Amino acid sequence: MRTYLVTGGAGFIGSNYIHYMFKKYGDDIRIINVDALTYAGNLENLKDIENRPNYTFVKANICDKEAIAKIFAENDIDRVVHFAAESHVDRSIKNPEVFVQTNVLGTAVMLNCAKAAWELPDGSFKEGKKFLHVSTDEVYGSLPDDENAFFYETTPYDPHSPYSASKASSDMLVKAYMDTYKFPANITNCSNNYGPYQFPEKLIPLIINNALQGKKLPVYGDGKNVRDWLYVEDHAKAIDMVQEKGKLFETYNIGGHNEKQNIEIINIILETLQEMLPDSDPRKAHINQDLITYVEDRKGHDRRYAIAPDKIKRDLGWEPETYFKDGIKKTIAWFFEHEDWMKNVTSGDYQKYYEDMYSNR
Ligand code: NAD
Ligand code: DAU
Repeated sequence: MRTYLVTGGAGFIGSNYIHYMFKKYGDDIRIINVDALTYAGNLENLKDIENRPNYTFVKANICDKEAIAKIFAENDIDRVVHFAAESHVDRSIKNPEVFVQTNVLGTAVMLNCAKAAWELPDGSFKEGKKFLHVSTDEVYGSLPDDENAFFYETTPYDPHSPYSASKASSDMLVKAYMDTYKFPANITNCSNNYGPYQFPEKLIPLIINNALQGKKLPVYGDGKNVRDWLYVEDHAKAIDMVQEKGKLFETYNIGGHNEKQNIEIINIILETLQEMLPDSDPRKAHINQDLITYVEDRKGHDRRYAIAPDKIKRDLGWEPETYFKDGIKKTIAWFFEHEDWMKNVTSGDYQKYYEDMYSNR
């Protein structure tokens, strides 16, 4: 039975990936999920699978060498899927240091421990071992407002925020391990994800939550920054395909070919909420464009991201399967069905975060 070590599996994409993998492989795989449970990690995301005999949760920080080495020593890990990171750009602008710690140093620890566990005396690696580093399209910087400009795997790195700089650094470390040691790895650079379990500091769940509560919808700058949105399950599928069929040492860009301005996204959410809420629901009355509030722009705000997923399509046959109009309905339906989840994650520290981040805007 193949054993996966998933880091950051209690976060948004990691938990969706774990669900996807158990749905696809059932009892044929084993997953060990290592997560420090920061503000973004939530074991409620994994409630329905926590008692599976082929699933184990380990609370540990990826910067803790001893803890990570112990997991490798006690388990014959075949695959590492490395999600764990500080992931929010706005937080990185306020507090860059933890981004360097987790994203750069933490990745170095993961690489070192995997290398130590997998390396043979002649410097080659045990058969079948693979490390997948989950990264972002933000490492490529910002594109102009030109619908023919895209990020390719060959696009030079040009990160702007502390978050993207830390992710770019971690990508470079993985590249260095591949080049220096022939360490068996791949890197994936993906565009903006959305879907169930996304923490409401990110645009889509924040807008859904605020709109339902009749709160202002904060739009940074002119609202015309473009992001390329991908339904999270399509990302999970792409990660699995890269591990199954990808060529070692290659980078694959993953994107939805679904570029939209932020203001378009907000309007779609408002329309979809109106459409999905029954007339009897009192919240329906306050969900409208009057909630939209233009606020001070994000510092160093990247203008446009757009992935060309040509390589992963051509070489591995992956394509995004979820149209945005369907994905956003599924996402909103999930939030309707999980009001307690939203209540739990927005109680306590979230209020303070929201106050800090938005009160001066
Ligand atoms: P998230 O913030 O929702 O989850 C991150 C998880 O990592 C949390 O469970 C957190 O507890 C854990 N974690 C943080 N620091 C840790 C540490 N030091 N040790 C162990 N665990 C730690 O993030 P996400 O949106 O699910 O993103 C996952 C990965 O995918 C990240 O590497 C991110 O850069 C990348 N990515 C995200 C997107 C996106 O749109 N969200 C797009 C492309 C790539
Ligand atoms: O592109 C991939 C990246 O997408 C990932 O690597 C990051 O982990 C992920 O957080 C995401 O980064 P963004 O900065 O693009 O996502 P965010 O949801 O924070 O913002 C999306 C856009 O919406 C961005 O242009 C900023 C804008 N925005 C965001 C918030 C939270 C607003 O206008 N108002 C807001 O309140």
